[in-house]
Amino acid sequence: MRVVETCAEMMALCKEARRPLGLVPTMGALHDGHLSLTRQARADNATMAVSIFVNPTQFGPNEDFATYPRTMERDLELLEAQGTDLVFAPLPPEVYPEGFDTYIEPGEVAEGMEGAARPGHFRGVATVVAKLFTITRPDRAYFGQKDGQQVAVIRKMNADLNLGVDVVTMPTIRDPDGLAMSSRNAYLTEEERTAAPVVYRALCAAESLRRAGERDGGKLRTAALDVLHGEPLVSRVDYVSVVDAETMEWVGISPVERRLMIAAAVRLGSVRLIDNVVVG
Ligand code: PAJ
Repeated sequence: MRVVETCAEMMALCKEARRPLGLVPTMGALHDGHLSLTRQARADNATMAVSIFVNPTQFGPNEDFATYPRTMERDLELLEAQGTDLVFAPLPPEVYPEGFDTYIEPGEVAEGMEGAARPGHFRGVATVVAKLFTITRPDRAYFGQKDGQQVAVIRKMNADLNLGVDVVTMPTIRDPDGLAMSSRNAYLTEEERTAAPVVYRALCAAESLRRAGERDGGKLRTAALDVLHGEPLVSRVDYVSVVDAETMEWVGISPVERRLMIAAAVRLGSVRLIDNVVVG
């Protein structure tokens, strides 16, 4: 396993790497969700590359960039055990040198939900993923359904800009009680951790209503909100949204065959959790 800190060296190594090359972009603090992506990338490709980069441009000024968990040594051990060939772990000035001034601006797909709650977030995600694609020129890149709108933004960018990467979406990995794995779960107090599966329970309530034939997105949303409001530790619901699973457009009344994503962002104390389910 080679660990590389500069764009130039990563580019050179990827250029001569055996193909196909699979890329797994991450911000580190790896857990089983990330490892499900690397496992698939390892199985599909001759070369497996993982990036570990806590990307400053996707964090808002009042977000957790400074305190985001960083566990590089352990991450490298896990990646070594996964049979990773290349790890790209640059520091921010390597990716954004003095004078850096070009960004990717995603359109409507990035407007609602996370895009509305976190202004500029998807501009930062799209820009760094475009740079990672350009540096590594992967045949395939792997993303988790856990961040459903993020995958939609990346798929749209990949198509609109003819980047030519096969974007693979992997299912959300959960703890046994339903909580979607996330590096940010480490911030939860013991009490909050016990309450946290309420997010998935709320989404499942909406999902089963849909499976029972409900066509009204508003009613699906209300079903999820009712569950969330029953948990006193939920300090705020940023949103519960019922959207088209590809375009992320709000969906009102729709036939049950239409693929929907039901997504939520919820605060438990000071910790912000996101999750979604896809149905149809
Ligand atoms: P990060 O949060 O580290 O996640 C890296 C990848 O792991 C993403 O594609 C994410 O959707 C996936 N992932 C996280 N938790 C998961 C889970 N429980 N099950 C399945 N997949 C999961 O997402 C980012 O980093 C960044 O925005 C990035 C794409 C790297 C750009 O900076």
